[in-house]
Amino acid sequence: MRTVVQNLCSKSLPADAELHHRLVAAARDTAPVSGLTHNFYKYPARFSPKFVRAVIELFSEPGDLILDPFMGGGTTLVEALALGRHVIGTDINSLAVFVAEVKTTLLDDRELAAINRWATRLPRRVNMHASSVCFGDWADNGYHRHLNRAETWRLRKAIEQALQSALRLGSPKLQAFGRCVVLRTAQWALDGRKTFPSVDGFRDSLIQHAERMISGARALRAAVEANAAHERTDARCLNRSAAQTEAYSNFTALSWNSRPLPSVAGGRTQRDPGAVLDRRPTRRIWRSVLCDGQPESR
Ligand SMILES: C[S@@+](CC[C@H](N)C(=O)[O-])C[C@H]1O[C@@H](n2cnc3c(N)ncnc32)[C@H](O)[C@@H]1O
Repeated sequence: MRTVVQNLCSKSLPADAELHHRLVAAARDTAPVSGLTHNFYKYPARFSPKFVRAVIELFSEPGDLILDPFMGGGTTLVEALALGRHVIGTDINSLAVFVAEVKTTLLDDRELAAINRWATRLPRRVNMHASSVCFGDWADNGYHRHLNRAETWRLRKAIEQALQSALRLGSPKLQAFGRCVVLRTAQWALDGRKTFPSVDGFRDSLIQHAERMISGARALRAAVEANAAHERTDARCLNRSAAQTEAYSNFTALSWNSRPLPSVAGGRTQRDPGAVLDRRPTRRIWRSVLCDGQPESR
């Protein structure tokens, strides 16, 4: 195993000046995260997609397999897929797995049209005069703790109604997309706020997030299709510990970690600037990997 980048600020950077320059420029990029499906959820301490893209392009080839054992919101998975690499991500947080899975699920035009139809009707489903389904496990798991205050109960009801509507979307992948629209809107409405939006604001935001996410999903599919000349690649999101990925890392071209520490300061999400990257020689083994969630060599 050869450690290519241990820390972008250390002296162990690759000797190639051009490479060095490109990586440092990408790591220093402070532009807001945008593009593809990256903004389906604002995961804490997420990578800059530009940095991830630079690393993947510089240290792997189309068709390679990449592993991110601490995938979080799946920045690595989205970029890898868009660049024609196979990718496995693992995380112990089921929210991370949900988000990364939705962000890397490719939807065809028919499915996107169904989501669009749902989204246009969605604001009407949010109605304070109608009842909502109270998801029993929310209360059991303590989710109501901050949602039943005078200034938030309407948002809790709006979220329940929007979620109920998403669960009526046909297939599991459409339902997951719809749930992610509601999740992203709920994050916008509740996270780190001193004052909360009105129900009207929530309705508007639902449709705006749905529209942006539909166009993000289109952009990801277009990027994947543009690589189809090589081979169709795939992403797998696994709800498991990094400690269980040793077997995969024997097969990967890149094993790539952000540090698994939340770096949220002052209520604002910080991007993780550091990374460890291992370059492995074995490539093009996707078909022999993950039939049953376990790698095997052929
Ligand atoms: C900083 S976040 C990763 C963010 C990610 N790079 C992105 O761009 O969205 C670190 C992640 O590591 C996960 N994590 C922490 N300990 C873990 C472990 N032992 N195995 C797998 N994941 C773990 C956390 O749940 C968290 O989602």
